[in-house]
Amino acid sequence: MAASGHRQVITVSDPTALAKAAAERLLARIDANSDRVAICLTGGSSPKQLYQLLATAPWRSKIPWDRVHWFIGDERFVGSADPLNNMAMARRSFLDACAPAANIHPIPTDTVNPDEAARRYERILQSFYGADRLDASRPLFDVVLMGVGPDGHTASLFPGYPAIEETQRWVVGVPEAHVEPFVPRVTLTLPALGSCREMLFEVAGSEKRAILTRVLAGENLPANQARAVGETIWIVDQAALPENLGGR
Ligand code: 6PG
Repeated sequence: MAASGHRQVITVSDPTALAKAAAERLLARIDANSDRVAICLTGGSSPKQLYQLLATAPWRSKIPWDRVHWFIGDERFVGSADPLNNMAMARRSFLDACAPAANIHPIPTDTVNPDEAARRYERILQSFYGADRLDASRPLFDVVLMGVGPDGHTASLFPGYPAIEETQRWVVGVPEAHVEPFVPRVTLTLPALGSCREMLFEVAGSEKRAILTRVLAGENLPANQARAVGETIWIVDQAALPENLGGR
């Protein structure tokens, strides 16, 4: 699978349409792989509606839960039940009701520090993958969900931070966040996140318009550096879309 580098932008009317479009893409990727499937989830508020949708009957019944594994692209270094915990939000929204516990793979935050959590999660990912080197022809994930922050960060890869330059490690600790919530983070790196058949960004709301304008202008921001070895797709709603591209 060659790196395409190309990004496709899909425009939808509103957050409800966005969640549905993302769910359809997720389902298509699951259906395309008759073996074990790996999905890397994201935190923040953007994916909540998608997660809640997946737990509703029409979607829930279409997912072969036993063979789908759920990971997370970054975590806030807080307890697993803390309201700020990204995986806790995904668990509450759909995983606990739908997925076998053994298929849920949270970033551990009961470690002495974020670096140790990163090392442990890297081992978890490498053991799942069956190798400690990523092979572009055999992506780690089927789908990686992503969001973009007001400063252009994605996962917990903040602009100008050393984590963005990492080429060897799959997961790193981030001692300080660049935006709220100001808690240390643990994040997958660009090579690990990019090892996927599809990277899917969800962007909705007028508060995202300023950063989306910068991203689409090609500014050197983490969200622009994150690319899949497969397809990179941004699903964007009307409110987030810059006016010159048809936003209202
Ligand atoms: C986190 C996220 C982060 C998020 C963006 C967008 O831990 O905060 O993983 O990268 O995706 O900040 O967040 P919103 O969806 O809340 O705007």
